[in-house]
Amino acid sequence: MHICVLHKHNQYLEECASVLNEEWPRSKTARIHSLEKSCDKYPVNLVLVTDENKPVGHSRLAIVVGREKSCFVESVVVKRSLRGKGLGKLLMQETEHFARSEGFETMYLSTHDKQDFYQHVGYSFCKPVVSCGIQPSNIPDSFLNKLAGATLDDDTSQQKRLNTKSKDNSSETALTRSSGMSPADAPSIPPPARAHALSIPPPPRAPAPSIPPPPSAPAPPPPPPVVHNPPVANTIGNKSNTDSEISKWDPREISWMKKNIT
Ligand code: ACO
Repeated sequence: MHICVLHKHNQYLEECASVLNEEWPRSKTARIHSLEKSCDKYPVNLVLVTDENKPVGHSRLAIVVGREKSCFVESVVVKRSLRGKGLGKLLMQETEHFARSEGFETMYLSTHDKQDFYQHVGYSFCKPVVSCGIQPSNIPDSFLNKLAGATLDDDTSQQKRLNTKSKDNSSETALTRSSGMSPADAPSIPPPARAHALSIPPPPRAPAPSIPPPPSAPAPPPPPPVVHNPPVANTIGNKSNTDSEISKWDPREISWMKKNIT
């Protein structure tokens, strides 16, 4: 059993697409098109192949925005009939080995229901990061920096290096919502805003109605504040969430996890 880089072994393209589609069905053409984006400059799709040259697993590595030597693994899947035999663990080990050989030191991921598996293979909960499913060289630096400023992790030196602005609540919307289960298809980051608004003139205003307005009703009370499910508090060592990682997971939310792979 070994792992190989998909774009250097195109003979596995179709069967790799089948392994993914078995778990996350979509059209074969679209799947293959997505897998064909694998390239040396990331994202890179990896295939776990048996000694008989049968693809039985897949993972995809992407870059993490604003974090040096960090990568993001997603679309981890083992052929359904072969699960529970250690291949998932092997796939992760081989993926980490590949990432290490590429110079990465930390691997991130997000998942909505496989937290136990990833904890089992050495991952711990962390704050969200932004993954970049397309080549960063195709995205303006200013936009990447803005996204990096939206990460909630506590690496302040990294934040300073990127000269990012203060974190505000709205920036959270830029975080990738990938759960790791949606295989590498939806871009993890929203497209930049369009540069130019269309210059269509506004429609002429309707003449003001001559009917007097009804007496104004009292203003309704303000809505209650929106409560986003906060990460489960980490009480280890009496540290607050602002300066420590997250020790538990909230089953209602996607979790971000990371592992030191050096
Ligand atoms: N919860 C807890 N422990 C688990 C789980 C789980 N869901 N699945 C496996 N384990 C444990 C096993 O008991 C085993 O323990 P051991 O080492 O003590 O024997 C160990 O993890 C390794 O298990 P494997 O047999 O290697 O796991 P498997 O081959 O079944 O692969 C995988 C796991 C990849 C999650 C597989 O079930 C799968 O393809 N699932 C569907 C796709 C999916 O959900 N992928 C994850 C998406 S998130 C992302 O991509 C970042």
